[in-house]
Amino acid sequence: MTKNISIDYDYFENSNNLSEIEKTLFNLAKSSRLKAYAPYSKFLVGCAILLENGEIISGNNQENAAYPSGICAERTAIFYASANFPDVKILKLFVLGASLENLNKAVPTPPCGACRQVISEYENKQSSEIEIYFANMDDEICKVKSIRSLLPFTFDASFL
Ligand code: THU
Repeated sequence: MTKNISIDYDYFENSNNLSEIEKTLFNLAKSSRLKAYAPYSKFLVGCAILLENGEIISGNNQENAAYPSGICAERTAIFYASANFPDVKILKLFVLGASLENLNKAVPTPPCGACRQVISEYENKQSSEIEIYFANMDDEICKVKSIRSLLPFTFDASFL
């Protein structure tokens, strides 16, 4: 028997149809991308997060000569949020990535597998969904309403 999982996502051709707060987050992810430290991959990623208390946090990827010691933009921002606002829910996460050399040739960059796992952990911790928006430099944006859409069959604490 073959079973099927399908996901829904919203697609925005550009940022015009975003709400004001979404535009703010989108622009912050974009400007944060420019501050990324990515001398090895030259793939710059920016992230912006909205918390329930109205705080907005940004982050970007931080690489290292010992490659696995680096960290993605999403986790830079999420860990800052959890470290500084441990009891405040994350509502929205925007991520935007593009190579320095290949600016306009990418489909919207979704969170990597490790970041999906981390986002899932915080959805479980806060018992509510985190809306995830991923974009490219042409301002195309995809939105899912929860990490569940990007990470079906999630491993979580219930298996331990
Ligand atoms: N990267 C992110 O920051 N977020 C992702 O979701 C995908 C990958 C970073 C990690 C590394 O610094 C560079 O992009 C190339 O993989």
